[in-house]
Amino acid sequence: MTALLQLRGLTRSYGSLTAVDNVDLEVAAGERHALIGPNGAGKSTLFATVAGTLRASGGNVLFSGLDVTSLSEPERARRGMLRTFQHSSLFLGCTVLDNVALAVQRVQGVAHRFHRAAHRFTRTDDEVRRHLDAVGLAGRAGDKVATLSHGERRQLEVAMVLAAEPALVMFDEPTAGMSAAETERFAELIERLPRDLTLLIVEHDLEVVFRLADRVTVLHLGRVLASGTPEEIRADADVQRAYLGAARTDELFTDSGGSR
Ligand SMILES: Nc1ncnc2c1ncn2[C@@H]1O[C@H](COP(=O)(O)OP(=O)(O)OP(=O)(O)O)[C@@H](O)[C@H]1O
Ligand SMILES: [Mg+2]
Repeated sequence: MTALLQLRGLTRSYGSLTAVDNVDLEVAAGERHALIGPNGAGKSTLFATVAGTLRASGGNVLFSGLDVTSLSEPERARRGMLRTFQHSSLFLGCTVLDNVALAVQRVQGVAHRFHRAAHRFTRTDDEVRRHLDAVGLAGRAGDKVATLSHGERRQLEVAMVLAAEPALVMFDEPTAGMSAAETERFAELIERLPRDLTLLIVEHDLEVVFRLADRVTVLHLGRVLASGTPEEIRADADVQRAYLGAARTDELFTDSGGSR
């Protein structure tokens, strides 16, 4: 197994609170890895520390064998580690197409200043349409982002990330705030993404997690409680205990439709 992403003893504290505590984790190239855990488990903190939004207090993040722990988020992004943008990074008054074009330019950055504008535009335009197609937004290319629904904006964010041609894409609670129909559409979108793309997904919706993930890591109080296939995680007694109080365990791990 080639680990694309490796966390070694990763730790992040807020003052005296250790939110992420000595986490070891490996994500293989091409793997779809979900991070779950009860509220306050440290998922968002771990995610942000991996992305470079937060600095680690200890330990290391390795990407393709390279230690990126001291690199900034943009520096990690340039090496192919991308997190989905937040809604706030969308230009609402611009078209869907322009937003993706800007995302391409943002990541390609300096190298492309030397290209001629007209030549570049044509190339970018083709790329952009390909990415919009991948997320099911090709038909809305000319529409203003302000006219998109919440779910469509999330789809657009994925297109913007794909535009950067990353090796690893990190999603922090992608289906939060989505309707059931939007969640379904989004899960399908993720399923259709190229299989060689490595995904790290923090997600509350366990139905989505068990559907999309090849492997699942459960965080509890900042530590890894369990890591394994969806089947292994469902069967893990410690995992069930960690979630107790949030739901009955038998309900927690039931597939949609209540088949049991
Ligand atoms: N900026 C911060 N300053 C201080 N403490 C923080 C900060 N952010 C998070 N924490 C604390 O760190 C711990 C982990 O929080 P984190 O948000 O990473 O958990 P989470 O698993 O993402 O939770 P949720 O499921 O609610 O999103 C919690 O105890 C939280 O209160
Ligand atoms: Mg969180």
